[in-house]
Amino acid sequence: MNQRPYSLRDATLSDAESIFELIQQHRDDLVPRPMGDIVAHIDRFVVAEVEGELVGCAAYTVLPEIGAPRHATVEVQSVAVRSQCRRMGIGRALVQRILSRVAAFQPAEVLVLTFAPEFFTSLGFHEIPKTQVMHKLYSGCINCTKHANPFTCPEKAMVCRLGA
Ligand SMILES: CC(C)(COP(=O)(O)OP(=O)(O)OC[C@H]1O[C@@H](n2cnc3c(N)ncnc32)[C@H](O)[C@@H]1OP(=O)(O)O)[C@@H](O)C(=O)NCCC(=O)NCCS
Repeated sequence: MNQRPYSLRDATLSDAESIFELIQQHRDDLVPRPMGDIVAHIDRFVVAEVEGELVGCAAYTVLPEIGAPRHATVEVQSVAVRSQCRRMGIGRALVQRILSRVAAFQPAEVLVLTFAPEFFTSLGFHEIPKTQVMHKLYSGCINCTKHANPFTCPEKAMVCRLGA
């Protein structure tokens, strides 16, 4: 499948099962998502296709900053590309599409928690201490079943500022 042309589009409900399966296949790298969660947030997903087959997805959510709504952060989530289709630029194109979509909201910054820091560095993200994203740790990492402590977990917190 390598080097075949790909296309991006907003997800539809008919993609939900393929998105679920793709995220499941990357459970070591991604937070698992129930089907109901994918369906409820289908409007926040973009997908990539090769020859009509879904090969990649990416999504976002808005993390409220309590007491400072203008400083809300967008989190990029659920970024995955099928292994046969990697290093073709699909992951980059998916994240760039999410970034251009969320730029309209003017978030303070865009956050990702990731085991793929080189990929996000190539997209303009840089690592920050996890102590700077306590709202994310309280809303997500606190329910983690893989690591007892977010500060010893190898996942990196990275941010980029849109337009910077
Ligand atoms: C991370 C992931 C989405 C990258 O998808 P991809 O389509 O292969 O990425 P791209 O081809 O767009 O790569 C863009 C750039 O990122 C960097 N990059 C991508 N994968 C990399 C890797 N494994 N090691 C080092 N750099 C990497 C490179 O700079 C690359 O540019 P280049 O190919 O011109 O050198 C994919 O490897 C994946 O699905 N991994 C498992 C799930 C995951 O870790 N998701 C991220 C967590 S949020």
